[in-house]
Amino acid sequence: MQITIETRPPAAIETEALVSYVFEQDNPIEGAVAELDRIVGGALRKLAASGEITGKSLEMTLLHSVTGLAAERLLLVGAGKPEKFNTAELRRLAGAALRHLKARSVKRLAFLARENDRSAAAAEAITEGLLIAGFESDKYKTEKKNGKEVETAVLAGWGTAAGAQAERGVARGRIIAEAQNFTRELVNEPSNRLTPRMLADRAAAMAAEAGLAVEILDERKMKELRMGALLSVAQGSDEPPRLIVVTYTPPQPRPGAPVIGLVGKAITFDTGGISIKSADGMEKMKYDMAGGATMLGVMRALAGLKPPVKVIAVVPATENMPGGRAQKPGDVQIALSGKSIEVINTDAEGRLVLADGLAYARQLGCTHLVDAATLTGAIVVALASVNVGVFGSDRAFTDRLLASSRAAGEKMWPMPLDDDYREMIKSSIADIQNVGSGKGGGAITAAMFLKEFVGETPWIHLDIAGTAWLDDAKPWAAKGASGVAVRTLVDFVMNFEAATPPAR
Ligand code: BES
Ligand code: MN
Ligand code: ZN
Repeated sequence: MQITIETRPPAAIETEALVSYVFEQDNPIEGAVAELDRIVGGALRKLAASGEITGKSLEMTLLHSVTGLAAERLLLVGAGKPEKFNTAELRRLAGAALRHLKARSVKRLAFLARENDRSAAAAEAITEGLLIAGFESDKYKTEKKNGKEVETAVLAGWGTAAGAQAERGVARGRIIAEAQNFTRELVNEPSNRLTPRMLADRAAAMAAEAGLAVEILDERKMKELRMGALLSVAQGSDEPPRLIVVTYTPPQPRPGAPVIGLVGKAITFDTGGISIKSADGMEKMKYDMAGGATMLGVMRALAGLKPPVKVIAVVPATENMPGGRAQKPGDVQIALSGKSIEVINTDAEGRLVLADGLAYARQLGCTHLVDAATLTGAIVVALASVNVGVFGSDRAFTDRLLASSRAAGEKMWPMPLDDDYREMIKSSIADIQNVGSGKGGGAITAAMFLKEFVGETPWIHLDIAGTAWLDDAKPWAAKGASGVAVRTLVDFVMNFEAATPPAR
């Protein structure tokens, strides 16, 4: 989709659909929309008076052949209550408008930003909304939806001065949205078309194109390094595992500066192993690599945005399969860190691969760690598919991530990590066991397990099991992979240096 900036008056823009938005308030027709209303002879005010246009969030009013406009259609989107409006709402609204028009075969649209929304940040949000909404996976359909894509979007309402701001916002928004869509593309892939080796190939191709350094560790190297936890999951599969390491180095690296490690769970298919899952819904377990795909997407964006901080993504990739060589409940494994783990349930495999991923990131010199993983069904019980669960060892560090989540318009909620939960992962035979004893707190005991492998390094864990996959389409996004956390983590890294004084 091509996105350009238009400084001509909105009424003069020749397009298939001109889009603007109205607030839910006594008079929804005000500001830029009141101007349009004057040009079209008061039609909008009439519709508002009759109750057809209310401004309720994501309400769609599509008018055809409006006199006075060069555009063929006018779409007014409800923006909800003005006091609740923000860039997150603007992003969703732009996306919902695009999907509404796309369903009606519109190929060219113009989006009229309101006076208060003519900043670089607003242009960025609109661009992201449009590009994320335009994403649809029809790769394996013989009948393509192509030809139903929106081809051009014009951002209207910008003066020449604001135009330069808009250009910057659009460029940034495109980098971030395309990175999120890259993640979604990977997550949507079925496991026979994205094995650990294929994921490594895709990561390497992305890194080469983006100008990032990449290293792929194979099974031999993992054995040499003694990654016993990761290997224990991989041993049940005929498909060999891979550990993907992608590095971004800033233009002016400083010795002693912090290094962020982004560790992502990439189980390309989770059968549960010997503790096998039930057949019902098992096909969805192809998305168990979403954490890894998230980190690869973030790296892709960072290559374009060039933050001043070094970032290393570590993505342990393997299948979790039952088989003649598969690990069995009760087996004891020695992780890369040296800790022994009693594997009570082979379906709690994500924490095993992350244990070695986190330890390896520390070995590589990471001073701060963030992991993302479709880790537990328990987080779905706790937060449903609304919020990402956020766990952290360092309050200030975690608060900064939560601030980024708000800026990015991705809902996340803090979860507890008290020492009291440590009791629940005590093993009678090894240092720890891989599931919590007793009932409840499954997402927390999983996070507690991960904490065992981060030492004193500030660390945040994102459980995205409930949010990485949309069972149904949203007005602003197709069903399937959501690409959640990519935008938050990009924002987090971009604002990292300013908030983190160099260690002395
Ligand atoms: N990949 C699953 C978690 C999951 C569940 C992701 C639902 C997406 C949707 C994970 O590997 C798993 O199987 N976790 C178990 C852990 C349990 C055995 C302690 C779970 O949550 O049931
Ligand atoms: Mn599992
Ligand atoms: Zn899993």
